[in-house]
Formats: sequence, structure tokens, C-alpha cells
Amino acid sequence: MNPIKAQYDERGGAPHKLIKAVPFDKPEPGAGEVLVELLAAPINPSDLLTLTGDYGVLPDLPAIGGNEGVGKVTELGAEVNELEVGQTVLLPIGCGTWRSHLVLPAKDLIALPGQADPLQLAMLTINPPTAALLLSEVVDLAPGDWVIQNAANSAVGGYLVQLAAERGLKTVNVVRRESAVESVKQLGAELVLVDGPDLAERVAEATGQAKIRLAIDAVGGAATDRLAACLTGGATVANYGMMSGESCQLSPAHLIFRGIKLTGFWLASWFEQSSPADQQQLFGDLIGKIAAGKLSAPVAATYPLSEVSEALRAASRGERDGKILLTAE
Ligand SMILES: NC(=O)c1ccc[n+]([C@@H]2O[C@H](COP(=O)([O-])OP(=O)(O)OC[C@H]3O[C@@H](n4cnc5c(N)ncnc54)[C@H](OP(=O)(O)O)[C@@H]3O)[C@@H](O)[C@H]2O)c1
Repeated sequence: MNPIKAQYDERGGAPHKLIKAVPFDKPEPGAGEVLVELLAAPINPSDLLTLTGDYGVLPDLPAIGGNEGVGKVTELGAEVNELEVGQTVLLPIGCGTWRSHLVLPAKDLIALPGQADPLQLAMLTINPPTAALLLSEVVDLAPGDWVIQNAANSAVGGYLVQLAAERGLKTVNVVRRESAVESVKQLGAELVLVDGPDLAERVAEATGQAKIRLAIDAVGGAATDRLAACLTGGATVANYGMMSGESCQLSPAHLIFRGIKLTGFWLASWFEQSSPADQQQLFGDLIGKIAAGKLSAPVAATYPLSEVSEALRAASRGERDGKILLTAE
């Protein structure tokens, strides 16, 4: 396989027009390093925002796209004892994963179960911990408690459905179109509603007037306010995404008379603030679940790196049936 990478030299505008597949020379691993060949790397909304220049952290240009993924070790440099050729490894977050060959320090790689589906493992680093932490870091929840989320058919939304059920939490899952309802139910969700102006009335009826203390918002705009209207007094809306591209709306009536709080969650901040032990515990748990097939996200399509522009065009479209991932070839 001839080495190829998905590179962009400028930001702004349509992501698929900015990025192109360019050949490069196969790199050699030095002491303490290994050569890794890409197995799979997803295209996430944050990758698109990085290309448009709207994300919270932006790499220097020119840059290689991709923040997460998995690869296979194909060559060992000198003094590498902890990994073997053929080992599946998790690529370090933010290393520019959209390239067929990567030379990386062996100490930065996490060995993964080789029998697990590489497409599922490739989506491990960002969305599963986000879903898990949204359920554990914002509000203290006990089994039997309700949580409401929008964009429930997103990858994060699907992981959240699965992780919440395992913890005995009940979820109200909101999608923006009828055609997305069934896919969320297939992940185990019992209650899936299509967003609309009367959302709060329908949620109250479907949950038996449940006192919901946490809303999880990936959309922003008026959708934030519609989630807030479903909550009990003093509850929290945690915004973690900007899918609508609009500022979160929250009526003064919710803020003043009902004490609703609006907060944000960013995985990057959690990585900065959490201990290595906490990170190992969370990722060990998630790797086990994904390898056992107990935690997964739908895959809409895979594209080879040589077709990265087409892949980005597909990932930018709404109403997908799952994630778009890149493979080496
Ligand atoms: N804060 C963090 O640390 C963090 C970490 C991970 C992810 N995220 C964010 O989480 C969100 C979901 O990520 P993902 O990878 O799970 O997404 P995904 O699988 O690509 O799904 C995208 C979701 O957004 C919906 N959507 C698209 N355009 C929309 C619009 N204009 N208005 C309302 N909904 C819209 C889609 O609905 P349709 O299917 O109907 O198009 C779908 O449910 C993104 O905003 C991402 O940036 C944040």
C-alpha cells in the first residue's frame, strides 16, 4: 500500500473542498517508536468544525484530519518491548488519524483486543466517554431516574441509550424526524419522540409526569428551550453540541421562575482535569463493552482515504443511518 494522507492547507468553507488525499513517503520508526497502519478512523462533527474553523481547538496548518481511530502495528523500532507486530492499537487522540501510515511512540499506544470489530473500536475515544460522562459528571443520578436527550439517533445519543439502560436510568429520546425513531428503538430505547413545540406535554404524558433533572442537548437554538420545558424545577440542561449552529435559547421564565441551569460539557476539559487512573478505568470499561459487542454505534459507510473528499461530503449530510469511517484502502 502506498502511503496516503488526508491533508488540508487552509480552513473555512465546505470541508470536502478543503481536504485532499496526498501521497507521502513511508516513515521509518526510530527508537521507542512503532509504525502503525490505519485500520479505521471515523469522521465526527468535531472534525468538520475543525475544518471550518469553528472548533474549540485548531491545529497549525497544514494539518492532517482526524482525531481518533485504530491501527495495526506493522514495524517495531529499536527498544520497543511492550508491543508486537500485528497488535491492534488505539491511536492517540488528536494525532491526525486520517493517514495510512503513522509513526508513533510505543508508550502512547493502547493495545486493543484483536478479535473486536475495528470499526467499532475506531469510534471508542470520543463519543462513548462523552455519553458516559454526561450521565455521571453533571447531575447525581440513581437507578430509576429519568434523563432526556435530543439528537438521540446520533452516535453519542445511541451510546447514551445503551449506557443509561445498563445503569437502570430511564431515557426520553428526542429526534428531529420520524424516520430516525426506529433506529433508536433498535438500540434498546423504549421512549423515542419527534421534537416539536408540544414536546413538554408529550413527555409529561409518556413519562407519567416524571420529574426529569437532566437534559442533554447536542442541538442548541430553540431545541435547548424545548428540552428545558420538559424538566422539573432546579434541573440542569447540559449542552455538548452545536448541531443547529445556533446559540442555546433558554427562556427567562425557565431561568428565573423554575431555576433551570444551563451548563456545557467538553470531553477535552475532562481529559485535562481527570487523573490517569480515572481515564484508565473509564476506557478499560468501554473497551470491554465494545469488544464484547455490548456497546456499539451504527455505521453508514466506509470510504478509502483516497476518497476522503466524498467521505466528508457524506459525513456533512444530515439524515445519515450512522457514522462514516475512513479506511486505509
Ligand atoms: N462536547 C463534547 O465533548 C463532545 C464530544 C463528542 C461529540 N460531541 C458533539 O455531539 C454531537 C453528536 O456527535 P455525534 O458524533 O454523535 O453525531 P452524529 O452521529 O454525526 O449525528 C449527528 C446528529 O445531529 C443531528 N443533526 C444534524 N444536523 C442537525 C440540525 N441542523 N439540527 C438538529 N439536529 C441535527 C442528526 O440528526 P439527523 O440524523 O436527523 O440528521 C444526528 O442526530 C455533535 O454536536 C458533536 O460535536 C461533543
